[in-house]
Order: sequence, then structure tokens, then C-alpha cells
Amino acid sequence: MKIDGTPFRSIWVDDMDRWSVRIIDQTKLPWAVDLVRLTTMEEMAHAIKAMLVRGAPLIGASAAYGVALAMRADASDASLANALAVLGATRPTAINLRWALARMHKLLAPLAPAARAAAAYDEAAQICDEDVAVNRAIGEHGLPLIAQRAHGGRRVNVLTHCNAGWIATVDWGTALAPIYMAHDAGIDVHVWVEETRPRNQGASLTAWELGKHGVPHTVIADNAGGHYMQHGEVDLVIVGTDRVTRAGDVCNKIGTYLKALAARDNGVPFWVALPSSTIDWTIRDGLSDIPIEERAATEVTTMTGRAMDGSIATVRIVPTASPAANPAFDVTPARLVSGLITERGLCDANEAALAAMFTDLA
Ligand code: MRU
Repeated sequence: MKIDGTPFRSIWVDDMDRWSVRIIDQTKLPWAVDLVRLTTMEEMAHAIKAMLVRGAPLIGASAAYGVALAMRADASDASLANALAVLGATRPTAINLRWALARMHKLLAPLAPAARAAAAYDEAAQICDEDVAVNRAIGEHGLPLIAQRAHGGRRVNVLTHCNAGWIATVDWGTALAPIYMAHDAGIDVHVWVEETRPRNQGASLTAWELGKHGVPHTVIADNAGGHYMQHGEVDLVIVGTDRVTRAGDVCNKIGTYLKALAARDNGVPFWVALPSSTIDWTIRDGLSDIPIEERAATEVTTMTGRAMDGSIATVRIVPTASPAANPAFDVTPARLVSGLITERGLCDANEAALAAMFTDLA
């Protein structure tokens, strides 16, 4: 997608040296587009953990490049094992991390050390290219869900939570891909962007992305989503996900479950967009089997934004003596999900439908 007319991906190999890795520091958005250069596996691990890069598919692609950086520095078995362990421990919930590292391990372990660095860079580039193609396909399969509600040129209102746009992937996004395609096709699509406390990925990132692409949108407090559904102002919900179980349970950013409940109560379709790399075929029960990342309490007790004088400021919003808890994700049971938008098409959120669509993976 474009930033001020210039096409970007969210991660790429530096054009000049052809080995270091460039990312957009997402902790600086929307106030600055800071293109950070990463030169070591440890820097990449920090970028994932501190959420300079985030979003399940981008976490996977970043980890793949982290392995490539490690192999460039030291391609021994010990270095490979260390890179897989360090990168694998950065964030626990998005299964794309484990998927990408397993893919790198499978390719690199049998190779002679001298061949590993080049192979690792090629594979990381391949993961990125595949991600772009997969997300484009998700957009194409999801587009009719919006188009069919646009009869007579009427406006279609889509509600989304967190950021599952192009900067959460390598390009296009998952939940936002059908929205970009609808907008580009001339459909009058408007997005309710939930702010997504505590890190505000909706207010900071989704709003920024949509604004840069010219998609009409309105940022709302997380608590306002149900109200708009009750008043008929949400035609459908589309969210992304960090892990889907083989039975169709969906883990996504904290607060997603409450939107699924509100959607069910109001007859609003609740769709989840995902690449097949987000399906964890090893588990069925999302509530008991998906590790939920617990992040720092300071993400709840403070807020960061631009002060009126233009400086970036962090302020505390909770009494200093009050503790805070910060689960980063929740699980929406499959029964509340209208369907899954995948690169192979629309799929019911249940084990039989997923297994039938992904016979080669299930
Ligand atoms: O903690 P984050 O910002 O990495 O969480 C991101 C999400 O929850 C996204 O909805 C999910 O990863 C899908 S991104 C296409």
C-alpha cells in the first residue's frame, strides 16, 4: 500500500547493503514514519517483543528475517538453535511466529552452514511474497461480503477491532484487505475503527492506514461498538486473528469477544479474516489451549499521545496505588463466528469445514 503516494511493504531488505532489514517502527505511528534498520537477530527479537513490528503475519515474516540475520553472523547449528529459541520466545500468542520459525528450521537444519545464510534470506523473502499474495486473495474473497450490501450505492458500515491492516502483514492486511478492495472498486465503504485499548492499535494504526488510503472511517471508543450495532449502523464486523484452532475458535486482540457477543445479539455478521498460517492444527479448544500474552501493567495505567505543544507525551491515567492487569488477547468461540475469510475462500468456523478446505494442512 502507499504512504503519501509511495508504495511500501511493512518489512524489506535494505536496498543499499542488501542484507540489513528495514521496518516501519509502529510504536512511532501515527506521529512519525520512522524506517528503522535492523542488523542483528537480537535487534529483530527486540523489535517483535517491543512491538515495533506487530500483527500475526508480520511477526512471522520478521522472525524469518531474524533467522536470516543470525545465519549471516554465524551459521552454526548452535547459532540456529539459539535464534529459533530467542525469536520463538518473543511473543506467545500469534501462531504465525511458530509457523515461520518451523519453516526456517525445516529448510536450514539439513543444509551445510555455508549455505544457510543465502537460503534463509531467500526463504524469508518467499514468506513475505506469499503473505502478500495470500492477503490479496483474502481481500478478493472478502470483497463480495461488502459488495452485496452496497446495493443501490448505499454506504456499507464495517466495524473492525485492533489493526489487521497492511502494516500488520507484509502488505494488504487481512481484515482490511476486503475493505481496501471495496474502496478501490468505488463502493462507499465506511469503517468504524475501535480504538483498541490499551495500546490503541485501532486509533493509532488502523486510522492512520485508512486515512493514508483515503478510506472513510470514524474512530470510536471500544465501548461504543455495541451501541452502533443496536442502532443498525454496523452492517458487518471483520476482524483479524492471531490464532484459530482446528475447531474454529478465534483468538484476537482483547475486546474482540465482546464485539462477537454484541454482533450475535444484534444479528450483525461477524467475520474473521486469516491466512492459513494462522490456523493451529494442533489444538481444538481455544479457551484452554491458547496461551494469552499478559503485557505490562503500564500499558493500562498510562497513555501516550501528542501533547498540544506537539511533543509526544506519556501520562498516567490510573491512581498510583492501583494495580492493573493486561491480558492482550481473548478467545471468541467458533459458535459466535459467522465465517472465516481465508486465501482459499469463505469457510464456516468449524472443524469439518476447515478440514475440507485445507485437506493438505489439517
Ligand atoms: O498485539 P498485536 O498488535 O500484535 O495484535 C494484533 C492483532 O490482534 C491482530 O488483529 C492480529 O494479529 C491479526 S493481524 C493481520
